[in-house]
Amino acid sequence: MIIANSIAEVRAAVHSARAAGEAIGFVPTMGALHAGHLSLVDASRARCDRTVVSVFVNPTQFGPGEDLDRYPRTFRADCEQLAERGCWLVFAPSNEEIYPPGYETFVEVGSVAEPWEGACRPGHYRGVATVVLKLLLMVGADQAFFGQKDYQQSLVVRQLVADFNVPTEIVICPTVREADGLAMSSRNAFLNPTQRHQARALWKSLQLAEELCQTGERRTPILAGRIRECLAEAGITEVDYIALVKAGTVIAIDEVVGPTVVALAVRVGQTRLIDNHQIG
Ligand code: PAF
Repeated sequence: MIIANSIAEVRAAVHSARAAGEAIGFVPTMGALHAGHLSLVDASRARCDRTVVSVFVNPTQFGPGEDLDRYPRTFRADCEQLAERGCWLVFAPSNEEIYPPGYETFVEVGSVAEPWEGACRPGHYRGVATVVLKLLLMVGADQAFFGQKDYQQSLVVRQLVADFNVPTEIVICPTVREADGLAMSSRNAFLNPTQRHQARALWKSLQLAEELCQTGERRTPILAGRIRECLAEAGITEVDYIALVKAGTVIAIDEVVGPTVVALAVRVGQTRLIDNHQIG
């Protein structure tokens, strides 16, 4: 497995693979890899000849007071897992490689980046869109793989790629869950055993919404209320949002009349967790 730290190295390696007719798959990550990331590597390997994984904790997508400093960094273990999984090249740039002195350009995606996560984390999607565009241009992959767990991020990336005519196909892969339903996340590592137990309520509340919907409850304020109660029963009272939106959009709806995504963000102790599920 190649470990590249510079843009020039990645470009040269990708250039020769493409010249040999190979299709390149790309999985952008911030490291601290878990089974969710590895499923993206598997998806890439199933569809492409060579898989590039970037490991870069992007400072511009963290707001002041967020967990940039304590974000888990496990590069050696990440590389071991990636090598085992058949990754071809790991791109691990420094902050200076991505944002050299004098760096000035940022990407603002429009309305899809505004509500929910965008409203709770001002500047977050500006940082995500900027780094994703830069990484896509650096790697020049045929396909890039993102997880459904970050529902709104997947919409932001699709909008970005469409608006900037980036010639990389975006593939969104299903959320991978622990045995008890908790969505895999690098931030789960921050949970103590009590919090880890409480966190099961995220998936439980999303399943409850699905059950209620199946048994005829279509009013989204009622569904959101029941989700909130389910979270509260587990001791989760810090809820950033519970969104019921038309699938494929971030537009809130009053009633479930077709495919609907329920997305939520909560705090369990110091740790912010997100999850989502399609119902209807
Ligand atoms: O989803 C993530 O891990 C990050 O937001 C991404 C896409 C790697 C950009 O830093």
